[in-house]
Amino acid sequence: MFQKGLKDVVAVHTKIASVEGDIGELRYRGVLVGELINEHSFEEIAYFLWNGKFPDENESFTLQDGRDLPPHVKKIIDALPPETPLMDAMRTAISAYVHESFTNQSIEQQALHLTAALPVIIARHYRNANGLLIIEPDPALSHTANYLWMLTGTKPSDVHVESLETYLKLTMEHGMNASTFAARVTISTESDLTAAVTSALGTMKGPLHGGAPSAVIELLEEIGTIENIRPIIEQKLQTGERIMGFGHRIYKTEDPRSIILRDKCENLSGKDGWLDLATAAEKEIIALLETYKPGRKLYTNVEYYAAAIMRAINMPPELFTPTFSAARMVGWTAHAIEQLSDNTIFRPQSVYIGKKS
Ligand code: COA
Repeated sequence: MFQKGLKDVVAVHTKIASVEGDIGELRYRGVLVGELINEHSFEEIAYFLWNGKFPDENESFTLQDGRDLPPHVKKIIDALPPETPLMDAMRTAISAYVHESFTNQSIEQQALHLTAALPVIIARHYRNANGLLIIEPDPALSHTANYLWMLTGTKPSDVHVESLETYLKLTMEHGMNASTFAARVTISTESDLTAAVTSALGTMKGPLHGGAPSAVIELLEEIGTIENIRPIIEQKLQTGERIMGFGHRIYKTEDPRSIILRDKCENLSGKDGWLDLATAAEKEIIALLETYKPGRKLYTNVEYYAAAIMRAINMPPELFTPTFSAARMVGWTAHAIEQLSDNTIFRPQSVYIGKKS
């Protein structure tokens, strides 16, 4: 059987997450994400995705181990030309995690370590590239707050931390997407976690996967004011253009992550004119899509409100895909651990269709 791009082919049985596109449900280890994100921190949900249970009350669990980058990793990041794209810098730095003190740890410890390290790596290269002084991690801050602190050098507001953390929690895991599949294929050869995550980062870089919420920013920038929504969208739909941030390959109803992010935006509404524009534009664009593309079930995808939230917390567009990757590190590593627990090397067939002489 040939299935281009392995579309609809089931390659893995997993207990980590379920994505039900028809009913718009995303569950982490059987629990609806909407329930999880209100009750648990990013750190707790990471623990839950890795272990299938939450840390015990008397177990102090943080994502601190790993924030202090090994000296050789710091040197590698600092040696990169400033114009090196962030995703390439991240892949290069992560691939250097091959020293003994790292590889001697259990795979679970390595997963925790890499998850804690990635935001520090992002912040270091981002600040180097922009000629800014490096900000050291602050052990008093949570994973999300510390990321914003290291990027900006100012203590983030609670509302910014909460908005970003909601986005991070919602994008930690999403089934057998391309980068997670890459991680599982790599670890299935019994290589190592560093190699699996390096493969995943290389896969995430592509615009078909890592996405471009910056395209949504461009759209909202072009629209500018509420009065412009209808004429600009109608003109695009009449000329066959796609509206960025709408439609999804799997979700044929509202993307549950988008609903949660929209609520978050509505809570923030009024504090940032962009969010008001985004919420007003969504309603009008969905109605126009139903007029121009009846029956196609086109709703906002996660990128739409992710872009609005990123814009509201002043996250530069070049940091969107790296930030998505920092969240997805949890999913990649959880899948690598699961793959090794019952491993079979991935080795599909190919059919030769070239000439024979
Ligand atoms: N704007 C306008 N029309 C859209 C659309 C959009 N965002 N998404 C899908 N459609 C239309 C297509 O034109 C097609 O119409 P047709 O039946 O008249 O040919 C129909 O809906 C089905 O499209 P298809 O590409 O087969 O759907 P898909 O489920 O395979 O595609 C996406 C999913 C995400 C690739 C698609 O919805 C898309 O391109 N969205 C815009 C890009 C986007 O938001 N990407 C996320 C990052 S910004």
